[in-house]
Amino acid sequence: MSADSSASVSSAAAALDRYAVAGNPVAHSRSPEIHAAFAVQTGQSLVYERLLCPLDAFEATIRGFVAAGARGCNVTVPFKFEAFRLAQRLTPRARLAGAVNTLRFDAEAAGGWLGDNTDGAGLVADIERNAARPLRGQRVLLIGAGGASAGVLGSLIAARPAAIRVVNRSPDKALALIDSHRAWADQHGVALSAGPLDAAAPDGPHEVLINGTSASLSGAGVPLPETGAPVLARGGLAVDMMYGPSAAAFLDWADAQSGPGGARRDGLGMLVEQAAEAFLVWRGVRPDSASVLADVRRRLESAA
Ligand code: ATR
Repeated sequence: MSADSSASVSSAAAALDRYAVAGNPVAHSRSPEIHAAFAVQTGQSLVYERLLCPLDAFEATIRGFVAAGARGCNVTVPFKFEAFRLAQRLTPRARLAGAVNTLRFDAEAAGGWLGDNTDGAGLVADIERNAARPLRGQRVLLIGAGGASAGVLGSLIAARPAAIRVVNRSPDKALALIDSHRAWADQHGVALSAGPLDAAAPDGPHEVLINGTSASLSGAGVPLPETGAPVLARGGLAVDMMYGPSAAAFLDWADAQSGPGGARRDGLGMLVEQAAEAFLVWRGVRPDSASVLADVRRRLESAA
């Protein structure tokens, strides 16, 4: 196990309930500062660390962390699918996503490790609460069909937009993603469709545009080809699940389509909201996320 030695794992802290973000890489994760703020705000005694897991030793690292007394962890790239397989019990939203971002290490007698996925709830909370844009009745375009998109599609459907179109560089993955959500969408009266990136808006522009690709990481800021036809309606909302400078190229491009009255969100709000939801799963109390989001945003901007 290689928990961040600077993350206050002193002998005094060892007596506190331990949590962590498990991933590779984790050095730049803002989750420790977010959960530390939640803990102070709600009067909970816990420590939250970074747990760097070797790519071939996620399970062993997690088991070591549990043996050291840990109560839960968040899971980030590239281990959300492995965490799904490790969990002994799954929440319905984790089962639908096929991926787990939150583990709670309940004892065998209590049913064993619980796997949840709070990413979608985080995204929807950021859109509906923080951006004050209700999804009900809206037409949504989700770009990407990898782990990030799979983690949020179920929650987007539950918010009952009129329609969700999923487009992806590999269109068959977009099709497979909507197929696995078809019954859930029917239950909620949401029309699902899928296609390639160059068929993003066959029925006209969408009111909500969400970038769930990792295109910006490879320097390709806008994943959609320039077809000349707008994909985002005037006054629409654009969201990039990445945060900070990585999101800028996509959001600037979307701004030009949405114009005055348009809105943009990078992924920082989603990050804080999914953390608040995980905190609730672990501690039974939901922190006030708005003040923490404002603080993390301020620190992010002053570091830029
Ligand atoms: P994550 O867990 O971050 O979602 P992932 O599962 O590897 O990572 O998925 C990455 C997503 O970004 C995929 O939808 C990928 O498209 P493919 O499925 O066709 O690979 C998409 N993506 C990555 N780079 C891209 C680029 N330059 N342009 C468009 N889409 C891109």
